[in-house]
Amino acid sequence: MKSLLALAAAIVLAAPAAAREQQPDVIFVPTPYEVVDEMLKLAQVRKGDVLYDLGSGDGRIPVTAARRFGVRAVGVDIDPQRIKEANENARKNGVAKLVTFRQEDLFKTDFKEASVVTLYLLPDLNVRLRPRLLAELKPGTRIVSHQFDMGSWKPERKVELNGRVIYLWTVPAGKP
Ligand SMILES: C[S@@+](CC[C@H](N)C(=O)[O-])C[C@H]1O[C@@H](n2cnc3c(N)ncnc32)[C@H](O)[C@@H]1O
Repeated sequence: MKSLLALAAAIVLAAPAAAREQQPDVIFVPTPYEVVDEMLKLAQVRKGDVLYDLGSGDGRIPVTAARRFGVRAVGVDIDPQRIKEANENARKNGVAKLVTFRQEDLFKTDFKEASVVTLYLLPDLNVRLRPRLLAELKPGTRIVSHQFDMGSWKPERKVELNGRVIYLWTVPAGKP
């Protein structure tokens, strides 16, 4: 048994670093469409916004934002299967020109141009992401999270819908 475990550990360690990095930090669980609509409403998405969904799954948040508000939107997901589904979703909804999906690690991706960021991750992932959101996003950028908060960064709005919770923050001018 010990030697089997040692063999398994050796295989994992021998795998190229890039291959090991491709594991999602959270599995794909889609946000229900009525919650997507409420997230976009809470973020006051409007013409001219650039929306980023970090961990975009089947792309429903960027696609809905582009379809309803005509905004440019970017989805970032580490899983190639999700990127495929998301591109198909954008194509079916006629918004492929407005929406881009990038197969990248959300902890490394460049999201500086966003004016709205949407999240449906996990509490510890939100907290891990928080310093970059505060440091790299422009003041006034709205961040909306389905279900999970940001630890000590208190939300300015909290809305409940069908047993789900949606949080809103705005990146402050005088950043902490
Ligand atoms: C809970 S799902 C949310 C999907 C979508 N945002 C929604 O609300 O319907 C989380 C997504 O994050 C992706 N993900 C997990 N870890 C990631 C990482 N480090 N970088 C990019 N995407 C990641 C997963 O593949 C999954 O599609």
